[in-house]
Amino acid sequence: MRIGVLTGGGDCPGLNAVIRAVVRKAVDHYDDRVIGFRDGWRGVLEDSYDELTIESTRGILPRGGTILGSSRTNVYAREDGPEAARETFARHRLDGLIAIGGEDTLGVAKRLNDDGLHVIGVPKTIDNDLGATDVTFGFDTALYVATEAIDRLHTTAESHNRILVVEVMGRHAGWIALHSGIAGGADVILIPEIPFDIDEVCGLIRRRHARGRYFSIVVAAEGAIPKAGTMSLSAGEVDEFGHPRLGGIGVRLEQEIEERTGYETRATVLGHTQRGGTPTPFDRVLATRFGLAAIDAAHNEAWGMMTALRATEIKLVALAEAVKQLRTVPVEEYERYGVLFG
Ligand code: F6P
Repeated sequence: MRIGVLTGGGDCPGLNAVIRAVVRKAVDHYDDRVIGFRDGWRGVLEDSYDELTIESTRGILPRGGTILGSSRTNVYAREDGPEAARETFARHRLDGLIAIGGEDTLGVAKRLNDDGLHVIGVPKTIDNDLGATDVTFGFDTALYVATEAIDRLHTTAESHNRILVVEVMGRHAGWIALHSGIAGGADVILIPEIPFDIDEVCGLIRRRHARGRYFSIVVAAEGAIPKAGTMSLSAGEVDEFGHPRLGGIGVRLEQEIEERTGYETRATVLGHTQRGGTPTPFDRVLATRFGLAAIDAAHNEAWGMMTALRATEIKLVALAEAVKQLRTVPVEEYERYGVLFG
């Protein structure tokens, strides 16, 4: 077979582990040719690629980022996009393509597959917000980075009697904030799914002071939003998929909490540190399992499907199911932890 591979959207640790697994099995087991497109869908539109071989993918398993590069290019945001993709498929005589991405990249994968090009998806994102899979690779690493940061911030917060606000990633889903906050023993956790009341946040912090705990850790997802009319936020630019560039809630909380409580407050924005660096063993293994399953799926002509982790098993699910709805934190899940706050 002739198989294309690409990595699209925000990068995350484990992408190279998928690429390596696909190439290993494709070349050694199936005797395939593998074409790696550069920078996500941009590589398909502009026919920018490298052939991937066992040699060119050696040593990449523990490497963060993606050797193929990534971008947030949307094939369907360009007038001639679908036609350009069709031409690239034909030029390389591709039997199919493995798209490794999140909701946007896989949304394009689904549409192209519906339009007759053969695509298989592999779910990645540190946000862990894709439907139809219990977990996406990259999440475990991001969680590890965020939890380690919270642990470090804890000790300095205590020494200085400060309120430390930690802004973590998570545009629409608060999985990183919730899980790192629980793992790190945060006193307040703010997630995009549940607009927060700044009065309640300050109330929890004051209660800790009254109980003799003069420091607090507030974990906020970058997409956390205040209840309407309670606190102002500034709007950012948008990308090709219409997502605003976020970042800023941490600093706004710093100002607001200090002003309202009078306690010294500082913000730390973890930003892209959560996406960089080596994947955890869990992510390496999950990514490898997805890569092996994806190339098998191509040989079974399971086009339009995505690899997914369901409990402990790797399954194939329809791309349509995966991109239908974001997997956000259920309110009851968040509320279960309420007793630990403040
Ligand atoms: O989708 C993954 C993610 O890291 C989000 O958590 C975050 O909002 C976004 O990407 C940031 O994207 P960029 O690096 O393009 O600013």
